[in-house]
Amino acid sequence: MNIKKAEFIISAVKKDQYPKDDRVEIAFVGRSNVGKSSLINSLTNRRKLVKVSSTPGKTRLINFFLINEDIYFVDLPGYGYAKVSKKEKENWGKIIERYLTDRKPLNKIVLLVDSRHKPTKDDIDMYNWIKYYDYNVLVVGTKLDKLKRNERSKNIKIIKETLNMKKEDDVLLFSALSKEGKEELLSKIY
Ligand code: GTP
Ligand code: MG
Repeated sequence: MNIKKAEFIISAVKKDQYPKDDRVEIAFVGRSNVGKSSLINSLTNRRKLVKVSSTPGKTRLINFFLINEDIYFVDLPGYGYAKVSKKEKENWGKIIERYLTDRKPLNKIVLLVDSRHKPTKDDIDMYNWIKYYDYNVLVVGTKLDKLKRNERSKNIKIIKETLNMKKEDDVLLFSALSKEGKEELLSKIY
């Protein structure tokens, strides 16, 4: 499916700011700096729909984008950024959790992990949380352009093992730079 139109709708913190039109939502979650905003820009063929930053932790709100006047892509604040206060971390956690808890229109959660590294404790917690609440999840390994060819299957295996994923569950690799993996990812979420 091609994305022809993508519009920013709202930056929300509180539940009453979320869209109320019951369209299906696809949420993107992952550590700060993992490449969530870059991935959304790439999928929507827009260079600046979402702000991409060299300093991690820039996305502190929940951003809703209306795609093809049909569904929402939801960009969540990244977790696990070390250089913020404990209080701020808790605050982010609350923002993410408030959205993910009991969100009826939420149809799928795309969990982004860095394809170069073993998933962190935060990644594992996030994955377990998603599973516990019984959401559909798709794990995507980002920054594929930084991997050597011969590292691909090995790293997928590490990600699957670390997150304790089922054998039949897929990890998809993606690069916002080269766009490799884009068509496959699109076909799985929309
Ligand atoms: P927060 O909003 O802080 O949670 O970060 P984010 O997950 O939205 O990450 P963002 O898209 O802002 O990207 C973070 C950094 O990684 C930027 O410097 C991007 O240019 C870089 N980056 C993102 N995707 C890729 C990729 O596929 N390949 C490479 N090489 N760099 C990438
Ligand atoms: Mg971001």
